[in-house]
Amino acid sequence: MDAKTQAAFRKRLLRWFSQNARILPWREEPSLYKTVVSEFMLQQTQVKTVIPYFNRWLECFPDFESLSIADVRDVIKLWEGLGYYSRAKNLQLFAQKFIKNPAKNFLDLLKFKGVGAYTAAAIASIAFHENVAVVDGNVVRVLARIFNLRTLFPSKDNAVKCVTPLANELIDAQHPGDFNEAMMELGALVCTKNNPKCENCPLKDLCEAFQQGTVDKCPQFIQLERKKCLKKRLWWIKEGCLLLEPSRIGGANALWELPELTPERAACFVLDKLLFVGKRSIGTTTFTEEIYAASVPNTEPMWLKQCTYFPLKDVHKISLSGPHKRWIQALLKKSF
Ligand code: ADE
Repeated sequence: MDAKTQAAFRKRLLRWFSQNARILPWREEPSLYKTVVSEFMLQQTQVKTVIPYFNRWLECFPDFESLSIADVRDVIKLWEGLGYYSRAKNLQLFAQKFIKNPAKNFLDLLKFKGVGAYTAAAIASIAFHENVAVVDGNVVRVLARIFNLRTLFPSKDNAVKCVTPLANELIDAQHPGDFNEAMMELGALVCTKNNPKCENCPLKDLCEAFQQGTVDKCPQFIQLERKKCLKKRLWWIKEGCLLLEPSRIGGANALWELPELTPERAACFVLDKLLFVGKRSIGTTTFTEEIYAASVPNTEPMWLKQCTYFPLKDVHKISLSGPHKRWIQALLKKSF
């Protein structure tokens, strides 16, 4: 793309963004803290899911200081349902480290746990006005179509690597944060994966794929085989209390799950009845999780010692990972 076309691209994109940007809570009276919180939440999660979590978060933890001294259980509780809980812990670690040693640029940000190139570029460009492009799945799609890239990408990471130099060449050095947000917004609202709204696109005259009629062929990815995984879990109630095990992800007993019956563990139990079959997907793996009522052996196995019985009436007060919360609610509604 020549310099004149690049200039036209930037001008049209930024004008479109100024007229079409969604009103989002982190865009109102923006601050570094709001940018950091929103970008952590937006990793692997859609904008509409993040909005209520972001608002609650800011009410409880309005700044880096309040977050840094919070009890990790309260931090995880506020994240409950957003998934990928290590993000919540890393966000608190970010606050603790940032207070002692504030990051000032993209390279500083990369040293924080849980901050990859994507999040570092988003924070650096939006909060520090640094000239560094954000490339997520939306941006890959926009640029693959603009340049009519017909490569069959082996993975998303590979596509990001391929597209990043193009994004860094196009970025508007005067408005890097707006440029990045505009690219993500265009990908989310107009240049969508299915049914893109090309007629409404401010860049359609500059879009190679639109001109060639190949929009639905860009970008293309090698289809990964889906894997299947079966897990068994235990539903065990004693004196009105449900047995739960701390998740390895939450740590510090901050996040709880129905105990998994690995084959070694299941050998100690008599599985009485299959009560529920839950399904969830993580990446390209589909997990089928069977939840069993079981007879617990007379001598309790060692691993039960790390578990805790929670009164069923208080189970909503602790943090449960998203699918476990749904399964427990469904099981509590069932009459046995
Ligand atoms: N996705 C990740 N960061 C975003 C942002 N700042 N605006 C819109 N979508 C995003």
